Amino acid sequence: MMQDTLMVLGIESSCDETAAAVVRLSGEGVEVLSDRVASQIEEHALYGGVVPEIAARAHADRIDGLITLALEDAGLDVAELSGVAATAGPGLIGGVMVGLSAAKGIALGAGLPFVAVNHLEGHALSPRLSGELPFPYLLLLVSGGHCQFIAVNGLGDYQRMGSTIDDAAGEAFDKTAKLLGLPAPGGPAIEREARTGDPTAIRFPRPLLDRPGLDMSFSGLKTAVRREVQSQDMNPQRLADVCASFQRAVTDCLVEKSRRAMQLFAGGGPENLAFVVAGGVAANAVLRAELEAAAAELGYAFQAPPQKWCTDNAAMIALAGAERLRAGLASPLDAPARPRWPLDEESAAANPVYGAGLKGAKA
Ligand code: KG4
Ligand code: ZN
Repeated sequence: MMQDTLMVLGIESSCDETAAAVVRLSGEGVEVLSDRVASQIEEHALYGGVVPEIAARAHADRIDGLITLALEDAGLDVAELSGVAATAGPGLIGGVMVGLSAAKGIALGAGLPFVAVNHLEGHALSPRLSGELPFPYLLLLVSGGHCQFIAVNGLGDYQRMGSTIDDAAGEAFDKTAKLLGLPAPGGPAIEREARTGDPTAIRFPRPLLDRPGLDMSFSGLKTAVRREVQSQDMNPQRLADVCASFQRAVTDCLVEKSRRAMQLFAGGGPENLAFVVAGGVAANAVLRAELEAAAAELGYAFQAPPQKWCTDNAAMIALAGAERLRAGLASPLDAPARPRWPLDEESAAANPVYGAGLKGAKA
């Protein structure tokens, strides 16, 4: 199916953000017509982490209202849409089912094509929301739920080049902040404290840097921080030093692995190399500056989408849906919700990095 202009409603509900957005995709490029996000940070604050049942319930409470608002903002009726897309995984299954069912209901009722989108594909395409970015490019996706290098070769053509083997980097920031008594979300809190700290005060480990390849590991770092905290009394300067040293260690790991990824990635040829960082941790100014410097050194153009499209949003899901519709890739209405859904099924099967009991959102 080839259409000149596609107007697609996207729905996202895989973690703790309920979101709905409308994107227009035409020969002139991408335009985000509306973009609504409702965060659940307050609902989960009491529990120190996302509680799946509470998340699913909150998505169900809000999804209809958000979809109405997204259509109103875009000035469109359902009948004017070209299709409806929703995240079908990976993520917390109760939440995914809420958004997926809403999208299927609208598509069925209005006789529109439906697209089941992989949340990671949404992130992979998200830099294309804010400007021209031709395929292929190298992406570091680094958030609370995901931490991986992806060669984005084209629509539906992704190669996972490396991934965390345990916690995502954002998760390490969050868990470390929690054990230091800092408020959620942990990343911004640690970055703030780190400004007055000495990043060389404590030598935390740099897991897996001594090994070849692009896989990463962050759970040991959190344990090292716990040991350090228990070893002496805390005072404001020591807290700042621990934060700065922790941030230094995470940054060193991500930057060194990014350098290796850039050296391996040849997509686009030497004249057209692009390195993109997305996900909530991409907000970290220290990390961002160092990635940018590393990219420049290795001959890469550097891009980081604006914060609102780094963190979970529905515009990226609508864009993935629109690109899939344009390529004739609509989904059946019985497409399942998938707690785990690797973007690059081949690499995941050949080299599974997750053991039993770990959540699929990171894979
Ligand atoms: O992309 P996102 O909103 O949600 C997930 O898909 O996980 O990312 C949230 C994560 C949290 O772990 C948060 O602590 C981290 O991004 N984060 C940061 C910063 N801002 C947010 N980490 C480090 N430095 C920051 N400034
Ligand atoms: Zn995400």
